[in-house]
Amino acid sequence: MAAVISHGSSANSAPLEEVVLAVERRLRASDRLLLGLDEELEILAELQKFPLGRFLLRNQGLNGYWTSYIFRFEPGRPTSSPMEEWLLTRSLLSGARERFQRSREEIARSITDGAVLASVPCGVMDDLLRQDYGSAPGVRLVGVDLDTESLALAEEEARARGLGDRSEFIRADAWDLGINAEFDLLVSNGLNMYEPDGDRLIELYRNFARALRPGGRLLVSFLTPPPPPPWEAPQRAAEWERYGIAEEDLRRELALFGDIIQAKYLNFVSESDTRAQLERAGLTVESMNYSDGGVLPIVSAVKPD
Ligand SMILES: C[S@@+](CC[C@H](N)C(=O)[O-])C[C@H]1O[C@@H](n2cnc3c(N)ncnc32)[C@H](O)[C@@H]1O
Repeated sequence: MAAVISHGSSANSAPLEEVVLAVERRLRASDRLLLGLDEELEILAELQKFPLGRFLLRNQGLNGYWTSYIFRFEPGRPTSSPMEEWLLTRSLLSGARERFQRSREEIARSITDGAVLASVPCGVMDDLLRQDYGSAPGVRLVGVDLDTESLALAEEEARARGLGDRSEFIRADAWDLGINAEFDLLVSNGLNMYEPDGDRLIELYRNFARALRPGGRLLVSFLTPPPPPPWEAPQRAAEWERYGIAEEDLRRELALFGDIIQAKYLNFVSESDTRAQLERAGLTVESMNYSDGGVLPIVSAVKPD
């Protein structure tokens, strides 16, 4: 059955006050909080003061709009509150923003005139829409997502950027694309990390492989297993430096997304398992693009001719 697996639906979730009361009750009853109770209640209070915080509390994850809000943020720009400033600049969300920029650069290298480029799930489709198509006027863009609100925003953005007549948006489940040999490039960010079942990941990649033309390329980001937190494994503390997050910020991050928001579970897959899953789906892995610190990889794989 088609299901949005990255975030809850505001339409279905309880009013914010009820969510907050339930979180507060849960925090007060817990004897395993990462920070002191007062500090966690303070974070809960701060999260209610700005729209991104309220969305996270109600939906336990990010939709296309808020992913785009985080990726478009430029450090130094004003924010709604100190907590939002912290989230946008010092939490692991800034690593996701760095990866988004790397992904855009990889996409730019694959743009050729007449190519058909797809983003699945597209969200607001910043990855494809924020590109320079000056030398590729014949390019076609396709965005696929299950969320109608994201699709409408992506369509609006495409029109605003003068790419409306070259873009097509399709509401579909990424596991049931039903597209055969149409795309020269398929980009996928922010979906596989919500899927815990390895067989389902292979099935997802098979859908992507089927949608690619022979010789077409898949660019997909994935999350490798992080080291244990430094307070549990001090001997591995240096590994966290690669993520560019200080220990006090990591503790706050895990308290906020774990204890308080109980974010939809993120799944981690090693590089070797991701390679094996892509090969099983019929793709040939060509390269792995890691951050300067050696984390947050983007894999590039091609469909054999
Ligand atoms: C974290 S956002 C990432 C969006 C975009 N790739 C980006 O980087 O901005 C996750 C997106 O996945 C979509 N989504 C979740 N489950 C899906 C599914 N089963 N099929 C298609 N899209 C799905 C959500 O609607 C949301 O737009």
